[in-house]
Amino acid sequence: MIFFDVKGQETIKRCMEIAAAGGHNIILIGPPGAGKTMLAKRLPSILPPMTLQEALETTKIHSVVGKIKNQGLISVRPYRSPHYTISDVALVAGGQYPQPGEISMAHNGVLFLDELPEFKRSVLEFMHQPLEDREVTISRTKFTVTYPASFMLVASMNPSSSGYFNDGKGGSSVTPFEMQRYLGKISGPLLDRIDLHVEVEPVPFDKLSDKRPAESSEAIRRRVTAARKIQTQRFDKINNTHYNAQMSSRQIRKFCPLDEDSSALLKSAMERLSLSARAYDRILKVSRTLADLQGQENITNDHIAEAIQ
Ligand SMILES: Nc1ncnc2c1ncn2[C@@H]1O[C@H](COP(=O)(O)OP(=O)(O)O)[C@@H](O)[C@H]1O
Ligand SMILES: [Mg+2]
Repeated sequence: MIFFDVKGQETIKRCMEIAAAGGHNIILIGPPGAGKTMLAKRLPSILPPMTLQEALETTKIHSVVGKIKNQGLISVRPYRSPHYTISDVALVAGGQYPQPGEISMAHNGVLFLDELPEFKRSVLEFMHQPLEDREVTISRTKFTVTYPASFMLVASMNPSSSGYFNDGKGGSSVTPFEMQRYLGKISGPLLDRIDLHVEVEPVPFDKLSDKRPAESSEAIRRRVTAARKIQTQRFDKINNTHYNAQMSSRQIRKFCPLDEDSSALLKSAMERLSLSARAYDRILKVSRTLADLQGQENITNDHIAEAIQ
C-alpha cells in the first residue's frame, strides 16, 4: 500500500512517522478538508508489529470483554475510533461491574478521537488520569479494579468552531473570543499530555493531481519498526514500558541524557517559549525517538531542535 496515497504533506507524514515510532500522542489541527481524518485513518499502515509481551497484554483485556472467540492471540495493534457522542462509561470504563472502556481496548494501540472539541467536556476530563498513569482505576464500595490503558492518542480538531484559522480567508468572522471558547473546551492538561501538535494545511490542487507515487507505507513502516526494536531492547527489563512515549520522568532522566550543547539549546528554548516541565519531558521523549529513528545512541542538537519544532 502506498502510504496514504497522500500527496504533499511531507511535514505531517514525518510527524506521523515519529509518532508511530515512539508511540507518541499527536494532535492534527487544521481546517475541514485538510485531510486530518484521512491521515489518522491511514496511520495503522505504518505502525510497528506488536511484541509478544504487548500481544499478551492486549489479548488479556479483550478477553475480559469477551470479544475473543477462540481466536487466540491478538497480533494486530488495536485501532479504536469512538464517535464523539460516546459516554464516559463507554470510553473510560464503568458500570456496576466495571468493564474496560475504549481506552483499555486501545491498550498498546491507537485511540483516535476525531473532532476532539466535539466530545463532551466531562468525557475528556475523565481521560486525564489514564493518560498520565497509563491505566485506569475504578472504585466501587466493595472493590477496585484497574485496567491497563496505555495507548497512543491521535486527535484532530479544527482551529475554530467555523473550522478555519483566523487568517481572513473565511475565518475572519471568528472573533478571538469565539476561538478562545472553542479551544477552551480542550483543557490545558489534556493538550499538555500530547507530545506532537501539528498544523495541517490543505494541499493545493496542483500537488493533489501530482501523479508521482508517494513513499510506500512499507518503507516507512520498516523505519518505524527498526526504531521500535531499539526501544523494545532498551525497556526489556522494565515492566509496562515498551516504547519511548511510556517513559516516566525518572526514566526520561535515565534514558535521555544530553550533552552540554543540546542541554544549553533546550534550556534557551524553554526560556524563550516559556515551556512547562511537562513540555520539557515531551521534548526529551520525542528527541529520544528521533535519535532511535536514526539508530543513534546519543541525542544531539539536531534531535532537540527538530523536537522543539
Ligand atoms: N493530501 C491529500 N492527498 C490525497 N487526498 C486528500 C489530501 N488531502 C485531502 N484529501 C481528500 O480530501 C477529502 C477530505 O479529507 P478529510 O480527511 O475528510 O479532511 P478533514 O478530516 O481534515 O476535514 C478526503 O476525501 C481526502 O481523500
Ligand atoms: Mg475530518
